[in-house]
Order: sequence, then structure tokens, then C-alpha cells
Amino acid sequence: MRFRRQGPSLVVDAPAKLNLFLEVCGKRPDGYHELETVMVSIGLFDTLRFTPLPDGRFPLRVLSGGVETACVPAGDDNLVVLAARLLATATGCRQGAQIELVKRIPAASGLGGGSSDAAATLVALNRLWQTGLAPRELHLLAAQLGSDLNFFLGSPLLAVCRGRGEYVEPRPLLRRLHFVIVRPPSGLSTAEVFREWRPHTVRRSAADLLDGAAQGDCTTISRQLFNALTAPAERLNPDVARTLRALERVGGSGQMTGSGSACFSMAISRRQARVVGARLRQLRAGRVWVVESCS
Ligand code: C5P
Repeated sequence: MRFRRQGPSLVVDAPAKLNLFLEVCGKRPDGYHELETVMVSIGLFDTLRFTPLPDGRFPLRVLSGGVETACVPAGDDNLVVLAARLLATATGCRQGAQIELVKRIPAASGLGGGSSDAAATLVALNRLWQTGLAPRELHLLAAQLGSDLNFFLGSPLLAVCRGRGEYVEPRPLLRRLHFVIVRPPSGLSTAEVFREWRPHTVRRSAADLLDGAAQGDCTTISRQLFNALTAPAERLNPDVARTLRALERVGGSGQMTGSGSACFSMAISRRQARVVGARLRQLRAGRVWVVESCS
């Protein structure tokens, strides 16, 4: 998360994430699923501009930064507005804010755009309104809004997340990682993908991948990439399997992020990532981004 002041406004770049590892450890009595997931922040950002208003309103303008925004709610049901209202209620603050959101992270893709935007809203308005909530208090609000917000709140480069995803443990990543991301034409609903998940007998651990990250060992990281939501996502949306096949065809092993539908592969250098990205664009497998790990 990156902040800059512009006159009375605060502007925030809110990053996307990739799940390098995602194991579902079981379904919980509250309907959520217990997870062990490793997430990395990447250099693909939405941009939010917050301008304070004296009257407790939260008018939101959603602008496209190159992605489809038709399915992004522009009203009170956008997670950004819910986050702003939750912070106002929790602190007794009567101010509002005009919010402009430029979307570059595609929705329904497993890239965490909506969660990152909402986490940025909590941090930005806490600063702008000078409501003085401590990180621990912001984390409690974040967990009420969704399972991925807590990861973005502290802007770690890499972290292992447990529980519903809200218990975040930052971990070292000793090398810059290079990725090619493909978002097929259609998206997926997180709730539906989790509903389609079926328990499996062998449970995988993120330990080897975390060791690889701590040593900057890209070979280990790419060998340990895993996502237990891939099979349910493929059953719900044939675009996922098609995208993974396209990534394999151009040389990398493909991996889905989060609950999909976006998939990615790792490259050993920026140059190689650009070459793979260009080939994928030729295949017309979907929208392609070449990105790096970046907090
Ligand atoms: O927490 P979030 O709102 O992002 O999750 C969206 C939906 O995904 C939840 O309503 C739930 O159905 C499902 N989910 C889950 N287990 C998780 C995270 C999300 O079942 N750990």
C-alpha cells in the first residue's frame, strides 16, 4: 500500500496478491473453511482517492483503469463504502469522504482487489480523519469485512495466512519474483468455489515453500506452488482449465490464484516473463499482465 497527499486528498495505491500456496484444511461449523495460504503482494494496483467531507456521506465513483467495472458495485454495497462506514461507526467519527476508485485489478479473479481496496480504505480514512485506531484495532475491523483484508492491512511482501485467512504472519522473501498472470474472460464467485470444494485425505504444508522463499530459491518456490481450490474452480468454470493449459503450452507450469479465475506462472527473470506474456497474448487466452512481487 502506497500513500501520497494531494491537497486535501489522500491517494492510495492498493496492490493485488497471488496465492502461491493454498490448502483447505476443512470446513468449520460457522460455514467458513480453515486455510493455510501463502500470499505475495504484486505490482498491479487499484488507486483510491479520499477527499474528506464534513457530513458523513460516502459518494463513490468507480472508474476503469483498463478492466471491466460493470460488476463492481458503485453504491453502498461496495466493500470500500462498507469499510468506511464501519470505521466511522467504530470511532464515532461523523465525517465522510468522497471516494474515487480506479480499477486495474480485475474483479472475481482471486487477485484480492476488493479486499485490498477495503483495507486501503480503513488505513487511509484512519489517517485522514485522525481517528487514531491502532493496527490491532484496524485488524479487528478488517476481519469483519472479509477474509483477505488482514493480509493487505500491514502491506507485507509475503505472508502465511491461517484461520479463515485473517491470521497473518509476515515471512521473508529474499528474491524478487516474476509472474505472468492470465485472467480468462469469465470470473468465479469465491463462495461458490468453496461450496464446490470436497475434502481430501492428504493435507499439504506450506513449510517447504516458505523455506524456499526465505532462501530466495525460485526453483523450490515454483515446485511447491499449490492450490486446493483448483479442482472445484475447474468444475465450475471450464475457462480455468483452458487457461492452465495455455500457461503450460508456453513453457511454465500454471497455477490458479485464490478461488480463481485468474491463473499465473512464475518466470526466472523479467525478460523471460515478458517473452511468456507476449506468447500468451498471441494465444488470446485472456487478459495478460507481467508483474513482480512488490509491497
Ligand atoms: O471472507 P470473504 O467475504 O472474502 O469470503 C467470501 C465467501 O467465501 C464466504 O462467504 C465463504 O462462503 C467463502 N469462504 C470460506 N472460507 C474462507 C474464506 C471464504 O468458505 N476461509
